[in-house]
Order: sequence, then C-alpha cells, then structure tokens
Amino acid sequence: GRAFVSQDSAAVALGADQVANALASAGVEVVRTGSRGLFHLEPLVEIETADGRIGYGPVLAEEIGAVLDGSHPARLGDVAALPFFAGQQRFTFARCGITDPLSLDDYAAHGGWTGLEAARAATAQQVVDIVKASGLRGRGGAGFPTGIKWKTVLDASADEKFIVCNADEGDSGTFADRMLMEGDPFCLIEGMAIAGHAVGARHGYIYIRSEYPLAVRTMQRAIDLAASRIAPFTLEVREGAGAYVCGEETALLESIEGRRGQVRAKPPLPALRGLFGKPTVINNVLSLAAVPFILAEGPERYAEVGFGRSRGTMPIQLAGNIRNGGLFEVGFGITLRQLVEEIGGGTASGRPVRAVQVGGPLGAYFPPSMFDTPFDYESFAQAGGLIGHAGVTVFDDTVDMARMARFAMEFCAVESCGKCTPCRIGSTRGVELMDRIIAGSGRDPGPIEQRPQLRNAPRKARGPADEIALLRDLCDTMKHGSLCALGGFTPYPVLSALDFFPEDFAPMRAAAE
Ligand code: NAI
Ligand code: SF4
Repeated sequence: GRAFVSQDSAAVALGADQVANALASAGVEVVRTGSRGLFHLEPLVEIETADGRIGYGPVLAEEIGAVLDGSHPARLGDVAALPFFAGQQRFTFARCGITDPLSLDDYAAHGGWTGLEAARAATAQQVVDIVKASGLRGRGGAGFPTGIKWKTVLDASADEKFIVCNADEGDSGTFADRMLMEGDPFCLIEGMAIAGHAVGARHGYIYIRSEYPLAVRTMQRAIDLAASRIAPFTLEVREGAGAYVCGEETALLESIEGRRGQVRAKPPLPALRGLFGKPTVINNVLSLAAVPFILAEGPERYAEVGFGRSRGTMPIQLAGNIRNGGLFEVGFGITLRQLVEEIGGGTASGRPVRAVQVGGPLGAYFPPSMFDTPFDYESFAQAGGLIGHAGVTVFDDTVDMARMARFAMEFCAVESCGKCTPCRIGSTRGVELMDRIIAGSGRDPGPIEQRPQLRNAPRKARGPADEIALLRDLCDTMKHGSLCALGGFTPYPVLSALDFFPEDFAPMRAAAE
C-alpha cells in the first residue's frame, strides 16, 4: 500500500524528508501529510493496510527495508489505536496527519466545505447564533466568546469589514497554529470564509510569523487552490518580522497596516474600529479552525464536550522536558496530572517533574501539588494562572526558579513595545532586582495585598534590603498599570516562582537555614 510521511516542520527537522526520499527510491508511493502530533515518534512512517495505517517510528532513512518487510522493531501497529492518539477528541485536528494538506479532493472527501455550505445556506445572524451556541471562546488565550465578538462586527455598520487571523503564535512551547496551517490549511480557510459570511466581510488576512516559512508557503498555495471555492471572499498572507508583541491584536493590526508593531489603546475595540479603521474580526488560528466543525456537525456536538464555561476541545501542546511531546486535542477538564504524567509520560530526562508552565512565557509556574487543577479557563484563573494558548512546558528538578523569574522579566524587557512605562521601565528594573535577589539580598514580607500600608509608602521606608518586597510591588504595578498582556502578565511567572518555589530565592533560603 501507500506510505504516509509527514511534511510538518517538526517531522522534517527530525529527518522525515530523508525517510520519504528513501521510500520513494524503493518504489513506494509516498503521500506527504501533516503531522499527527506524535512528535516523539517522528519521523513516523504509516503503511496503508487492510487493518488500518500501520505505523513505524521513529524511523531512519537507512531502515526503510525493515519497514517495508514489516520487521522494523519500532512497529507501532494501527496508529489511530495508539493510546496517545486514541485518547483524543479530534474536532479541529480531525484531518491533520491523515490527508495531503494541499489536496482539495482529500479535503472534500474528509468532510471539508460542509461547514461553509451550511453557513451559506443560513443568514449571517443564524451563523453568529450557531457559533454562540457552541460556546466557543477565543483560543488565542483570552477566552472571549467568539460568537459575541462576531456579533459586534456584524452589528457595526461600515462600507468594509475584515477578517484577520492571528497566526503569530509566539508562546514558548506552542505549535498548534503551525501544525494546523501546515497540515490542514483548507480548514483555516474555510473557517475564515464562514466568518466572512457571518459578519459581512469580503476580505481576510492571515498574519503568520516569519519563523514559520513552511506555514507561509502552505497557506499561500492553499489560498490559490481554494480561491474559487471561497469566492467572492478573498484572502492573503502577511508575514510578521519577529516581534512577540505583534501577537497582541492591535500591534498586529498596526503591523499589517505597514507601521511599527506597537500596541493601540483599547477602546476602540478592533471589532468596531480595527484594520484600516474598519470593523474587524480578529481571531486566533484555532478559534477560526474550530468553526467548520461547529457548522458542519452542529453547535450541540461541540458544546456537549468540555468543563464548566469552557466548552468544546482544546488542542493542548506538550513540550519542554517531557517524554511524549506533541499535540493532544481533548475536551476541557482534563487535569494537568493526566496530561503530564499519563499522556506525557513524565520528563524526557527521567528525573522528577518539578514545575510546569502553562500559557507561554507569561503563564504561571505550577508545582506538582497543583496538578489536579482541571484544564479550564476559570479553574486556572482561580489558581493564579492562565491557559493561554494551551502550551504546557515541563521542567524537571534541575530547574532554578529564581532564574526562570529573571527570564520572565528579561523576556518582557526584550519584547516590550515601549508604549507604556510599567512594562518598558518596569521590566528592566525587574531584571536588575532579580539579579540582586539571586545575589542574595532581600527578605519577603508577603504578598502586597496583606500589607496595604506599604503600597503608598516612600521607598526608603521599606529599607534598602527589601528587594523581594520591591519585586512584589513592581509586579503589582506592572499587572495593574500595563496597557497589554505582555507587561500585565509578566508578573504571573515571576510571582508564581516566588510563591510556589521560595526555596530557590536566595534570601528565603538564607532565612530558612
Ligand atoms: P482581551 O481580554 O483584551 O481581549 C480578548 C478579545 O476579545 C480581543 O480580541 C478583544 O478585542 C475582544 N473583545 C473584548 N471585549 C469585546 C466586546 N465587547 N466585543 C467584541 N470583542 C471584544 O485579551 P487580549 O489582550 O487580546 O489577549 C490576552 C491573552 O493573550 C492572554 O490571555 C494570553 O494568554 C494570550 N497570549 C497569547 C499568545 C499566543 O501566542 N497565542 C501570546 C501572548 C499572550
Ligand atoms: Fe507595549 Fe509592554 Fe505596554 Fe504592552 S505592556 S503596550 S508591550 S510597553
């Protein structure tokens, strides 16, 4: 039978091209697919048989003979039955890793375009109501209800409206946007065309980070191939230039307009005055790519999965020091422990897990004692963290959490757009403070909420050595005074490191000894 080999960037980085070439040289028909998201098994070869697609992985190019005669030791059996795969609910990533990403026939044969057809058979208001009923919330991180955002744009009167897809996936440890664009680009295109129909927009932009060259090429080719399918709706790709802050929606809009990526104050909301001053739907890749399923299968089918107010599935990305890294799409409510220990299989180093950071560089660090937290926007917020774009980065017991807190401040200082003072100046002062703390000065008087008298006290009243008190005050100022999430969320990793891993901060270690 035919052989399937991923052409996803992660698989290619691990040698998938060489494996595919070796198979082709042996006379096998090779289909290049997206990735199943089982990165720990890449390069993965799947051979089509009557018993399903039999997988082998990881495989080296020189081992192809053993794959073809079935004797390769890394024979995995039916890939769809592997626990890592079978345990998922693939709503958004249903086709990813299965089909040829640029085959319109494959797309149509696997349920493609039925969502768009259903949308076009309905009125704009009906489509908005369907998305509302699904409970879908913004998958970029903020979790704002997608249907309400679309309704705001639908109700805005203007001569022109836009759909903008945020594919500037900048969070550390995340790759779901890239995987979808490389592995099932028509799904995103279909979601954007549905959004266009729902709000009355004729044109859309996909803003992709330049670090994703294959995603850029794949999306461009897919847009050309699908042009007549989505007409009169049209799409184009715009490339970022490497700034993390361009993932912030207003900076992203500035960047598309040809200006420096700097954050705009809200209001006005992009939904009312967005790209070129026009009402704009700006959504993450995963939000838009969830929509074809919702239209095709009905909102109830999506909403029946989930936890609390977090409905549907989340494509969770397991990364960092983890044995089974990859993409795991599942309904909300799964716990961190299941994700890290059962599905992820613990650390790749084999050492104990000490911390996980959920939600990218602005997410909180959680210790194992908090691993029973269910994956859900509200539960994470209550625990002092955030889901963000659902990146889960695992660290073993060799991590130094004071250094991680310093890194958060340094990251903010490097990536700050400079528009507001708490972030621009605060992050640099934060790095200096962390350096002094790591060098051993300061003591911790506890969270700022518990000592309001200090809040407005002159600095010298605190004593020059109260560096950790100063760090907490600085975080408080950044959290409440920053214009966007970059400065506003940097305190999460800093304070969680301090609160949950105090033994890594030299002054507290000294106090305990
Ligand atoms: P936000 O809460 O200000 O806004 C969320 C979205 O809802 C925005 O698109 C906003 O325009 C829209 N909105 C709010 N009220 C509305 C209304 N009444 N009508 C219509 N639309 C409305 O959050 P923000 O600053 O956009 O995003 C912060 C999040 O970004 C964080 O939770 C963080 O996790 C995430 N993030 C994601 C990254 C990634 O790589 N995906 C990187 C960094 C942060
Ligand atoms: Fe710019 Fe930082 Fe202020 Fe955001 S918080 S607007 S990145 S300076």
